[in-house]
Amino acid sequence: MLEGLDGAGTTTQMRMLCQRLDREGRANAGSWEPTDGPVGRLIRSILARRVKALPLTVAMLFAADRHQHLAGPDGVIERAGRGEIVVSDRYLFSSLAYQSIECGFERVLGLNDGFPLPELLVFLDTPVAVSQARLDRRTHRELYDGAGFQARVREGYLRAFEHFEGTGMRVLTLDGDRPVEEIHEAIWTETARLP
Ligand code: TMP
Repeated sequence: MLEGLDGAGTTTQMRMLCQRLDREGRANAGSWEPTDGPVGRLIRSILARRVKALPLTVAMLFAADRHQHLAGPDGVIERAGRGEIVVSDRYLFSSLAYQSIECGFERVLGLNDGFPLPELLVFLDTPVAVSQARLDRRTHRELYDGAGFQARVREGYLRAFEHFEGTGMRVLTLDGDRPVEEIHEAIWTETARLP
């Protein structure tokens, strides 16, 4: 699983990792949240401010989309069961980092109770100023834009990782400001160690 602030580069790294796994002949599946399914599309409309929803509704929608992502047809559980390495661009840690700001950590944790933890979690730790500069090149603005909000998201991530300490999940934190190839190599080294 790949996590990071908006503009951290998780999508780029997800694609690079899947291409590398392809080249190495290892069955894999790239996926992402919000998904492209009906709940994910509704979430995208909320993020783009086309549809309004209360913060807790949004947190519930992310959890519903996640359930579909995991348990739905061709979902993570099915793919992992076929022996594929599933690389997801965002997962429940995004909810703990983003939705906790308005809904509270414990509430969001409760909504995400029961979802399995990944074997490896990669956190692209990009300085807020760097990820913001990348986003400034974007034309549209989204719900969670802004350096102040993103700084709180980063705190949320750190709290979430602390919460899962001792669970056996490997957390690899990488400086997201490094060249993309270097980041990819670091992720690859860690992925190659997976059983
Ligand atoms: P993306 O830019 O990686 O496509 O993600 C869309 C936005 O959704 C991004 O701002 C992070 C946010 N998000 C949450 O707030 N909670 C979640 O659970 C997930 C998966 C994403």
